[in-house]
Amino acid sequence: MTDLSVIVAGVRFANPLVLASGIWGTTPELLERAARAGAGAVTAKTCTPAPRAGHRNPTAVDWGHGLLNAMGLPNPGADEETALLAEARRRLAPLGVPLIASIAADSVDGFAEAAAAVSRARPDLIEVNISCPNVADSHGEMFAASPRAAAQATRAAKGATAIPCLVKLSPQVYDIAAIARAVAEAGADGITAINTLAGMLVDAETGLPVLANRTGGISGPALKPLALRCVYEVSAAVGIPVIGTGGVASGLDAIEMLSVGATAVGVGTAVAVSSGDGAFARIVDELGGWMLARGIEHLDELRGRAHRARGGTAVPGTRETRLPPVPGWRPHEG
Ligand code: SIN
Repeated sequence: MTDLSVIVAGVRFANPLVLASGIWGTTPELLERAARAGAGAVTAKTCTPAPRAGHRNPTAVDWGHGLLNAMGLPNPGADEETALLAEARRRLAPLGVPLIASIAADSVDGFAEAAAAVSRARPDLIEVNISCPNVADSHGEMFAASPRAAAQATRAAKGATAIPCLVKLSPQVYDIAAIARAVAEAGADGITAINTLAGMLVDAETGLPVLANRTGGISGPALKPLALRCVYEVSAAVGIPVIGTGGVASGLDAIEMLSVGATAVGVGTAVAVSSGDGAFARIVDELGGWMLARGIEHLDELRGRAHRARGGTAVPGTRETRLPPVPGWRPHEG
């Protein structure tokens, strides 16, 4: 019997796949759709204490290896977001799929304010987004950029809610393990690693930046090696669960993410760009089939294998992104 369930900060997901924040907003119908499509948990779009209009268009571009986005955290503000979260929760509860609210702020107090507001909707978890590369914080850099600021934001959110908090880290730091330790010591119940990495695309003909914000966050396949390295370092540094996010589009990608120490696996760009909500059932089926074929009954057997290995492998990882169906694996039922 293959068991794909995981526990993240005391919350059970039927499978490890998590709809990443920002992919389908906080529209309750879309979050429900992701749940019905097979997500183990769903994350809402980040909200801030006050409404934000976000950046001008163009805000996102598919550049062939993933997405570059600079939405600028558009959201209706924490109070209005809370009403959407409450409706999303009402729809998700009968499906047994946990809801993860997401908050950000440009000041320490703002994290407390947003955490208190969204808690009224009783999400299962709160993701504390200290790592958006597309907005300026009041102190001039991302909270995720320094252990001290990251810990302050974490402490503020934790102090304002009884709901477990996951802190979302940036890959754009010298030592992500130091940031992870700081947020864990400040009370984080888990970590989401990683947010996007700031990048830029330029139109060769005009020489102009493609995005109105000029720079944006890189996500999708191009990010996977970076995400694997970060999750590896973070999970070695802290004893709290990590949702490994960045470039996961297949069962093999998910297996790799679990192998470097993730407890659960975020899926974002694959849903937004290539596979739509079909990504969830496909990845679950690929993951379950792969485990069944190898007699692996629980994800615990996969988790952290890269930490236990002593050396490298002479065999390069397969480049296949689709795994053949495995006889005997019960396909996802939707
Ligand atoms: C954005 O809204 O600009 C992206 C959000 C994020 O990367 O945290």
